[in-house]
Parts: sequence; C-alpha cells; structure tokens
Amino acid sequence: MSSSIFDSDSNSRFRSKSQAQFQSHSQVSNVFRNNSGSVVVKAVLGVVALALGGLILFSFSKGCNHQPGIGYNQGYQPEQPIPFDHSLHAGQNQIQCKYCHNQVERSTHSNIPALSTCMNCHLVVKTDSPLIQKMREAYDKGDSIPWVKVHMLPDHVKFNHSAHLEKIEKHTGEIACKTCHGPIETMKVVYQHSTLSMGWCVNCHREPQYSAPLNCSTCHH
Ligand code: HEC
Ligand code: HEC
Ligand code: HEC
Ligand code: HEC
Ligand code: HEC
Repeated sequence: MSSSIFDSDSNSRFRSKSQAQFQSHSQVSNVFRNNSGSVVVKAVLGVVALALGGLILFSFSKGCNHQPGIGYNQGYQPEQPIPFDHSLHAGQNQIQCKYCHNQVERSTHSNIPALSTCMNCHLVVKTDSPLIQKMREAYDKGDSIPWVKVHMLPDHVKFNHSAHLEKIEKHTGEIACKTCHGPIETMKVVYQHSTLSMGWCVNCHREPQYSAPLNCSTCHH
C-alpha cells in the first residue's frame, strides 16, 4: 500500500511479514525487546537522546516522516485465518465498533472479540456457510481463532487506548477510532492506515486543541 522507500527496511525492524525475516534483521528491536528491556531502553534512550535530540527536535518541526526507519508497516494487511469483513459487519450491517472491541474504553489494549461474540449472531445467521461452520466447530471445541495482529508498536513504546478516546471524540465529534485507524468500516480486509511512527504520535500531541504531553517518558518506558 505504501510507497515509502523505507518500508522494506522498517518492516524487518519491529515486526515483519515473515518470521524468518524478523529473526535475521532485528538486531535493533532485540535491544529493545531484551528481557531487561526497561533498563536497556533507558540507557539506550539516554545516549540516543543526546545524539538525536537536535535531529528529533528538528524533525518534529518538519513532520518527522522522512527520517530513515520511520513509518513502520503502513499499509500492512495480513491474511486472516477467517476472512472477516469489516465492511460487511461495521459498514453494511452497522454493528458498532465497540460492540466487538468492547474493552477499548476500559483498557490499554483494544481487544479482538472472542468467538462467543461472533456466535451471538452466527449460531443462527448464515449457518449454511462453510466459514461459519468452521467457526461453529471451533466454538464447540472451546477453541479460539488465531487472528493475525495488524497494528503493533515496538515494546519500548507505551500506548493506551482508553486515555485517547474521550478527548478526540469531544474534539472531532465522531468516533475516535477513525482518526487513527482510518475508514475501517469500508475495509474488506483491515490494513494499517497510519504510520504509527513517533512523528505521527508527536504531531497530534502538539496540536493546540489537544496539547497532549510531549516529554519522552510519556511514551517510553
Ligand atoms: C463483528 C465484530 C467486529 C466489529 C463490529 C468491528 N470489528 Fe474490528 N475486528 C474484529 C475482528 C474479528 C478483528 C480481527 C481480524 C481482522 O483483523 O480482520 C478485528 C480487527 C480490527 C483492527 C485491527 C486490529 C489489529 O490486529 O491491529 C482494528 C483497528 C479494528 N478491528 C477496528 C475496528 C473499528 C474501528 C470498527 C468500527 C468501525 C470495528 N473494528 C468493528 C471484529 C469486529
Ligand atoms: C450482530 C450480528 C453479527 C455478529 C456479532 C457477527 N456477524 Fe458475521 N455476519 C453477520 C451478518 C448479518 C452477515 C451476512 C450474512 C449474509 O450474507 O446473509 C455475516 C457474515 C459473516 C461471514 C461471511 C459468511 C459467508 O460465507 O458469506 C463471516 C465469515 C462472518 N460473518 C464472520 C464473523 C466473525 C468472525 C464474527 C466475530 C468476530 C462475526 N461474524 C460476528 C452478522 C454478525
Ligand atoms: C490515538 C490513536 C488511536 C485511536 C483513537 C484508536 N486506536 Fe486502536 N490502535 C492504535 C495504536 C497505536 C495501536 C497499536 C497498539 C500497540 O501495538 O500496542 C492500536 C491497536 C488497535 C487494536 C489491536 C489490539 C491492540 O490494542 O493492540 C484494535 C482492535 C484497535 N486498535 C481498535 C480500535 C478501536 C475499536 C478504536 C475506537 C474505539 C481505536 N482503536 C482507537 C491507535 C489508536
Ligand atoms: C489524533 C491525536 C493523537 C494521536 C495520533 C496520538 N495521541 Fe496520544 N494523546 C492524544 C491526546 C489528546 C492525549 C491527552 C489525553 C488527555 O489529556 O486526557 C494523549 C495522551 C497520550 C498519553 C498519556 C496517556 C495517559 O495515561 O495520560 C500517551 C502515553 C500517549 N498519548 C501515547 C501516544 C502514542 C505512543 C501515540 C502514537 C503511537 C499517540 N499517543 C498518538 C492524542 C493523540
Ligand atoms: C507521543 C509519543 C512519543 C513521544 C512523546 C516520544 N516518542 Fe520516541 N517513539 C514513539 C514511537 C511510537 C516510536 C516507535 C516508532 C518510531 O520509531 O518512529 C518511538 C521511537 C523512538 C526511538 C527509536 C527510533 C528507532 O528508529 O529505533 C527513539 C530513540 C525515541 N523514540 C526517542 C525519543 C525521545 C528522546 C523522546 C523525547 C524527546 C521521545 N522519543 C518522545 C513515540 C514517542
């Protein structure tokens, strides 16, 4: 989807489409993903902050989007074990985002719905479909669907869904999901709409109507 020249490089840094690629090219993220992560990250950030401070501050004013290695995975659209269609469910049938992603207001993470949420409808809806029968089988066995994660920040970044929703909704007057995830209700297959780069976060935090925190420790462990 994206034409960024940094894509192939950045995909391998934090999460890649193939595990093999991930393992061979992830030295940088291994530093951050180390078990003693927070100490290492603090040390690394301390050093890097000095070196990059000027560059980062400069980049902020330029939008940060052209710095090498930034702009991870925009457009990433993995295949899912069951071809779940948001445009059919959230679009055509107008099922609310928060009906399925029902932890998003309460929790740091926005959950993927449990199979039981699907079966609220699909015990009776479209039961002649082989896909629905596959779901029914898993449901009866107590299995879950191994959905492939689309959005993923590196481990050294803190993000909290519930903290974002109210302010953004108050300002934009519409459901906040769209601001960051784009028109999910039109997507047959979900893809990553925003860059999720540091510049993307910071640019919004700097908007005067939000004046959200900008200090490094807000977003980094
Ligand atoms: C009927 C249930 C249902 C509804 C309604 C629904 N979703 Fe989803 N959503 C899912 C499932 C299942 C997945 C995991 C499979 C996939 O990625 O397609 C998912 C995945 C996602 C993802 C990607 C998560 C990741 O892995 O990073 C986002 C973002 C998302 N939904 C946002 C929304 C938004 C915004 C709405 C409302 C416009 C919405 N969803 C409505 C069930 C639902
Ligand atoms: C509120 C009701 C509702 C919920 C909850 C719901 N669905 Fe659906 N689903 C529908 C409707 C309505 C259709 C369209 C049926 C038709 O084409 O007649 C559909 C169609 C589908 C299809 C297409 C089947 C086919 O072969 O055409 C799949 C796959 C599917 N849903 C998966 C899911 C999954 C996975 C979940 C849970 C994350 C889910 N649904 C939750 C109502 C729901
Ligand atoms: C301020 C931007 C922003 C808003 C608003 C937002 N999201 Fe997200 N969403 C993200 C980011 C960033 C991630 C990746 C988080 C991570 O990897 O820890 C994400 C991840 C997700 C995921 C994958 C599970 C997870 O938590 O990692 C789902 C599902 C999701 N969002 C749904 C929603 C829904 C539904 C809404 C609206 C109610 C919403 N999001 C609003 C930025 C946002
Ligand atoms: C569309 C605008 C927008 C984007 C994009 C955005 N934020 Fe925010 N963020 C906000 C606002 C507004 C607040 C302040 C909320 C408040 O004051 O209640 C905030 C607050 C936060 C907080 C503090 C939460 C708390 O518990 O007080 C963290 C951490 C944060 N954002 C991280 C991120 C990260 C990381 C990203 C990028 C992956 C990001 N944000 C992207 C608007 C945004
Ligand atoms: C609003 C949230 C936010 C704030 C504030 C923030 N960062 Fe980040 N930072 C991120 C996100 C998200 C990433 C991961 C994506 C990326 O690398 O662009 C990141 C990545 C980084 C990286 C790794 C870059 C790489 O290429 O591996 C460094 C180093 C960093 N930040 C340092 C800082 C410093 C120093 C500050 C304070 C001046 C700061 N950050 C403030 C969100 C933030």
